[in-house]
Amino acid sequence: MLVLGIETSCDETGVALYDASRGLLAHRLFSQIALHAEYGGVVPELASRDHIRKLLPLIDEVIVDAGVTAQDIDAVAYTKGPGLIGALLVGACTGRALALGWGVPAIGVHHMEGHLLAPQLEAAPPDYPFVALLVSGGHTQLIEVKALGEYTLLGESLDDAAGEAFDKAAKMLDLDYPGGPRLAVLAEGGQADRFRFPRPMCDRPGLDFSFSGLKTFTLNTVTKHAQTDGLPDDQTCSDIAYAFQEAVADTLVIKCRRALEQTGLKRLVVAGGVSANTRLREKLEIALSKIGANVFYARHEFCTDNGAMIAYAGCQRLLADQQEPLQVTVRPRWPMTELQGLGVS
Ligand code: KG4
Ligand code: ZN
Repeated sequence: MLVLGIETSCDETGVALYDASRGLLAHRLFSQIALHAEYGGVVPELASRDHIRKLLPLIDEVIVDAGVTAQDIDAVAYTKGPGLIGALLVGACTGRALALGWGVPAIGVHHMEGHLLAPQLEAAPPDYPFVALLVSGGHTQLIEVKALGEYTLLGESLDDAAGEAFDKAAKMLDLDYPGGPRLAVLAEGGQADRFRFPRPMCDRPGLDFSFSGLKTFTLNTVTKHAQTDGLPDDQTCSDIAYAFQEAVADTLVIKCRRALEQTGLKRLVVAGGVSANTRLREKLEIALSKIGANVFYARHEFCTDNGAMIAYAGCQRLLADQQEPLQVTVRPRWPMTELQGLGVS
């Protein structure tokens, strides 16, 4: 089964062709970072318009890259939610219309399920069951994954998502959007012993997160050391970035370890944009090796939004005979625990 995957939930137009027996055949991504940079964040209307411009040309390109024709495509998978409603509608309407025109089924995919399954595209994918840490710009969740589609929420952020906290801290340090990866680079020059930021909600039981206090702590530290231009000197900015990243990474690691202990599972999947963070990965490897657990990630380019994860997730659901009716529905908010399992566990 050859599946065309379409991702348009936020500021990346992603397209891929995944084949159930041959694996990933081709994928392309257009990032709108430059378009939104001058506004310091994603402008939803500009995002939707740009998806309209880029989507069909990218689909043509992956078809050529994969050496197939449109007639070879057996189904279309598109991101149905969660995300920006206008952006989602571009992918959903295009995907649904192409499937109708080609006379093949379509499936609406949950964006976070796409992230969660992205490590399955790697050479040594994790077996089920496992614990998943989903850390993106909009979500921070710990999920027990019994089988594909069978998700139990173990804990989540009560306020900001981890990626959102990275982006906001980066803004305080005058870094351009998207701040997370830029803050990580700035932190490389930071001194380890200069500041110690709080590890929120780690001193009490439970698997929920809260990053808003850490955000305030960061702002207070920036303000305290600000010079006449409103910013601390360059070294202090690096030191703050370092301390912030350490605090977020430690918090995530502590909760992951706790989730593994609570569930008795030995496999952890870390997915979503923040899973690209090198410091988080280093800390996870160390902490998990101590308890004999293994951690799995997607390759770097599939940690952030992409079409490959949507094609893969859609393919699994299509193989289990799930498909979308003709009507186009998108879900800007969509709890992953509402998803149906595939009935294979
Ligand atoms: O999964 P993703 O591409 O989009 C959403 O579904 O939200 O995640 C984007 C988020 C942004 O907040 C971005 O700053 C963060 O992931 N991010 C990082 C890194 N790379 C991306 N945060 C920290 N370190 C990174 N290396
Ligand atoms: Zn995402």
